[in-house]
Parts: sequence; C-alpha cells; structure tokens
Amino acid sequence: MVAYNHAMTTDSYVQFFRQTSPYIHAHRGKTFVIALGGDAVAHGNFHRTIHDIALLQSLGIRLVLVHGARPQIDTRIALSGIETSFAHQLRVTDSDAMLCVKEAVGSTRLIIESELSTGLPNSPMHGAQVSVIGGNFITAKPVGVRDGIDFQRTGEVRRVDSDAIQQQLAQGSLVLTSPIGFSPTGEAFNLNYQDVATHVAIALNAEKLILVSEARGILDNGNLVRSLSLPEVTTLKAKSTNDAERNLLASAYQACRNGVDRVHLVSCAEDGALLSELFTREGSGTLIMKDHSEVIRPATIDDVGGILDLISPLEDQQVLVKRSRELLETEISRFMVVVHPEGLLLGCAALYPTMDQSSGELACVATHPEFHDQGIAGRLLANIEADGKSQGMSTLFALTTQASHWFLEKGFIEAQIADLPAQKQSLYNYQRNSRIFSKAI
Ligand SMILES: CC(C)(COP(=O)(O)OP(=O)(O)OC[C@H]1O[C@@H](n2cnc3c(N)ncnc32)[C@H](O)[C@@H]1OP(=O)(O)O)[C@@H](O)C(=O)NCCC(=O)NCCS
Repeated sequence: MVAYNHAMTTDSYVQFFRQTSPYIHAHRGKTFVIALGGDAVAHGNFHRTIHDIALLQSLGIRLVLVHGARPQIDTRIALSGIETSFAHQLRVTDSDAMLCVKEAVGSTRLIIESELSTGLPNSPMHGAQVSVIGGNFITAKPVGVRDGIDFQRTGEVRRVDSDAIQQQLAQGSLVLTSPIGFSPTGEAFNLNYQDVATHVAIALNAEKLILVSEARGILDNGNLVRSLSLPEVTTLKAKSTNDAERNLLASAYQACRNGVDRVHLVSCAEDGALLSELFTREGSGTLIMKDHSEVIRPATIDDVGGILDLISPLEDQQVLVKRSRELLETEISRFMVVVHPEGLLLGCAALYPTMDQSSGELACVATHPEFHDQGIAGRLLANIEADGKSQGMSTLFALTTQASHWFLEKGFIEAQIADLPAQKQSLYNYQRNSRIFSKAI
C-alpha cells in the first residue's frame, strides 16, 4: 500500500513537472517586476510568497521586487502619536510623518532581505543563495500642491535608472526597490509602491508586471475574471467602486499601454497563487494583456527548444518521425509555429518543398495536448497552404499513421506511394506504413 501511494505521488509529480516545463522554458531570461504590497509582507503567508519569489529567481527569471509598506507606516504613525491626512488617495507626508515612513520602509525592507537570506537545510530556501541588491534607482519629484493641499514629502516617480538596474540583473542579482525616492537635491520622498513598480516595469520594458496584494484578482459580480483586454480594463475601471481595485486596474492599464506585455494580479493570501498563475494554464488571478490573441509566425532558432518539448512525446509514441535537435536547427526555416500570448509554443507544422517547388510535404503537424480542438492545427494548415501557394506549389501531401481523419476533414484525399514526388517515393518507410494524403491548393 505504501509503495502504491508512493508510485501515485511520483507519477503525479512527474506529470506536474512535465506540464510546467514549457512555462519554465518560456519564462527563463525574461524580466518580471513584482510589486509586493505592505499587506502582503504583513500577511501570514508572506514566508511562502517570498520563497516562491526566490524560486522564480532560481529558474533564471530576472526579478525586480518593489515593496510597499502602507500598513507598517500606519502603525508607526499611530505609535508616534502624530496624525496624517489623505487626499486624492495620497497621504500628506509632513517631515514628522516622513520620519515614520523611513523607519517603516526601512524595517519592512529588512524583513524582506532577511527572509531572502535564510538558507537552512530544512527550508525551501536551502541552496537558493539569492543576492539582493538595492540602490538609488528611483529619482523622485514632489507631488506639490493640489487643490490647495500641499502634499509636502509625498512624491512621484520622475525617472528610473534602468541602466543601473539592468546591470544588476545581468549579474544575476534580485533588485529590491523601496517606495522612497530621492530628488536631485537629496530630499527623500514617500512614493506609492505600485506606481514605482509600474514605472520600473515600463522603464525596463519588462515582460511582466505582477501585482501581489490581498486582492484575489478582479471580480465581476463576485466572480474572478481570469483575463482582461485593455478595453475591458477601461470598462471595469469605470464600473468599479473599490479604490484598491481601481488602482490595480490603472497600473495594469498604464503598464500595458507603455510596452509591458502582461500584468498579473495575484493574491498574497492564497498559498502558491504566484506559481500557479505563472506555471499553469488556468492561472490563479487576473491576467491583463495588451494583445489577447495567439500568434502564428515562421519559427526561429529560439523556437527549437519549444518544438522539441512539443514533439518529443509524440516521437516516443511513434506518432511523428524522430528529429534530432541538430536536424531541427538546420530545418527551422521550414517550420511555422503558433505561440500563446504567454510565449508558450502551442503548435507547429513544417513545409518541405520538392526540388521543382511544384508541391510540398506538410509534416510534423502537432498541437500542445492541452490546446487540442481549438483550431490551432487548422490555422497552421491555412498558413502553410498560403505559403505553399505563394511559392508556386499546386499540391500538398502528407504522411500520417494516426491523424488520417484530420487530414480528410481538412480537404485532403487519400493517395498512393506512386502519387508521391519521385524523390519522396524512394524514401518511403514501408515499416512505418504511413497513409498518404494529398490536397490541391
Ligand atoms: C492532429 C492534430 C495536429 C490536430 O490538432 P488540433 O489543433 O487539435 O486540430 P484542430 O483544432 O484544427 O482540429 C480539431 C478537429 O480535428 C479532430 N481531430 C484531431 N485529431 C484527430 C485525429 N488524430 N484523427 C481524427 N480527427 C482528429 C478533432 O476531433 C476536431 O474535430 P471537431 O472540430 O469535429 O471536434 C493533433 O491531434 C496532434 O497533435 N496529433 C498528434 C500529431 C499528429 O498525428 N500529426 C499528424 C501527422 S504530421
């Protein structure tokens, strides 16, 4: 019984690992900016959140972590007996309050740094060795006077030193940024962490901005919205009566409009929410995308790894003919791929023209198993047909052992070995005994 359970656990673990590998591949070397609210730092789940962030770093993702400290500042201000007022959702920070801000931000930062430094053998951080770097990367300016209210030491981001941050990321460091910026005159300003994170993501042209807070994501009539386009963000923002939600939507909109590919809204309260958002198809929070749709394009050498991930299991099952990495690299210009907005490779197909270019073989058609029956292979075929036509081909042919009906439904008719171009006839593998199909294009 114990052995059986163990086998089950191992099986599901192996399956899980295989399912996440395309995402690991897609995220490696990409730049993610994570905004971690002060509420997330104060939350009971904080240790796990920070360990998951360290895990992202160890998977080769370039990380900038921008933390907030609003609840910590509130506590410090309450303890010191001073009072502050708010206007336009901003705290009016006088010089006494600024002292509290510096103390609260400093101690919050230390909590994060110490958590990122733990490396006990029995902790998830064992061997992680995260090198955390900070610096005066944010230049600030005062908010100034609005509606007659002088916001004093409350500031806004004026500039992000993206070159300095990029240098640190290139050296493999995790860049930790606090919500305090300095003016060129050396004055410190209290900044909104979400605003800092948004500006940093834009300045770095980051692939992702991830806003981690107590919100599960965006709710519409109590239901979690899994993904939003920019026009939908605008509509929901106008509808929302919740300030925190409106701020999240505003940051997401600003980031996407200014070059950040995706913004994820993730809960700090749900264990593993960050990992499931980034490494599973379903996700856990809300994804906001500039471009909602998948892309079909000619493959490049960078797609070889993704194509291998997709076709290797099919080769092992002898559904597809084996292709080595070297062969794929040589023939990559023959391939078309379908890529998910997240960068995950969803499908591929190749077109091999005959010597006289009058016909071509459609080969290696494959769709990611989680994305079957969504028309992906059909769209690849349409693209390949158009490509073949533009190259002067009049016929496509294909060999398959298991997808005969798919080809028939796509307008192919069954053919014989004698119908194949001469060079292909001599290469026909009788042992494999594939069925042959052709289509006039
Ligand atoms: C064949 C394959 C590429 C289809 O991918 P897909 O993206 O799911 O295909 P589409 O969404 O364009 O078409 C789906 C339709 O084809 C049908 N279909 C999919 N695979 C099929 C198969 N092997 N046999 C018969 N019909 C099939 C589906 O049932 C669906 O029909 P429906 O719309 O009536 O429900 C995919 O099943 C695959 O990767 N197979 C393994 C590799 C392979 O055999 N390649 C062909 C040899 S090169």
